[in-house]
Amino acid sequence: MLIALSSAKGAPGVTTTGLALTLSWPRGVVLAELDPAGGDVLAGYGRAQLTAGGLADLEFVARRGQMAGQLDAHLLQLDAAGRARLLPGLADPATARHVDWERLATVLASMEDGAVDVVADCGRLRAEHFPHAVVRRAAAVVVVTGSTLRAVRAAAQAVAEFREEGSGLAPHPGAVAAIVIGPGEPYGEREIADALGVPVVGVLPRDPRAAAVLGDGAPAGRLFTQSALLRAARSVAVRLVEFAEAHEGRLTPPPATRSAPETTVGGGRGR
Ligand SMILES: Nc1ncnc2c1ncn2[C@@H]1O[C@H](COP(=O)(O)OP(=O)(O)OP(=O)(O)O)[C@@H](O)[C@H]1O
Ligand SMILES: [Mg+2]
Repeated sequence: MLIALSSAKGAPGVTTTGLALTLSWPRGVVLAELDPAGGDVLAGYGRAQLTAGGLADLEFVARRGQMAGQLDAHLLQLDAAGRARLLPGLADPATARHVDWERLATVLASMEDGAVDVVADCGRLRAEHFPHAVVRRAAAVVVVTGSTLRAVRAAAQAVAEFREEGSGLAPHPGAVAAIVIGPGEPYGEREIADALGVPVVGVLPRDPRAAAVLGDGAPAGRLFTQSALLRAARSVAVRLVEFAEAHEGRLTPPPATRSAPETTVGGGRGR
């Protein structure tokens, strides 16, 4: 099941949210960093401990028609158990124009015969080379927003754009939902759902300490998994899976083989 996360102007937090959800996902999952502006996780949560080909190298082998079989080799483990993995994003945003998002979307939407989910960080809507094709193939399209008037206004525009008939964005209008970071600044979950006209599948607290671990690779410490952000992410992940499952059915998983990835980032720290 492919789930696309995106943000609107003026509401940062999509990468942190994607990582928090991935680490909290109730089953096997891959965080695919598809932001055309570049990937952040290796330099942040991964603490620059590893270099990896990720999306750019995958794109290179895909030109020789080998993408589906090569995907596993480009994934890094995000946790000790290998349940959460990462497809690192582009190191150089200038290469985004070369990525065949359509081909990638097809592979991600049917990953490992549907045995794992893919959470795609698509970055900001309307960015140049935005991965429209990935959003179109997603079982759920989630706009990540804050709760200020400015953020909610921008999110409402993004939602309208995703839901617009014939826009070629969301697979269908009902697949669009929102996640709110920092509710009550001043708007609450219900007000935001009303303003956007889509369900809010969850809210995440502002938790600068946990966000610094996820975004900047700050030491996790023993209490990281019990942080307010990670605890909330666990229930949001479950609700998001339920929402996406209700909208799935358009994805046609071809058979795929699985091999264990060999490298780990961020895994085991404080977990
Ligand atoms: N729940 C949160 N609580 C506190 N701070 C947060 C939270 N989520 C994100 N942040 C902070 O907001 C900033 C931007 O976050 P992030 O990198 O996730 O945003 P983004 O939308 O992916 O941005 P970009 O457009 O650069 O990719 C970071 O400093 C991050 O730590
Ligand atoms: Mg980001």
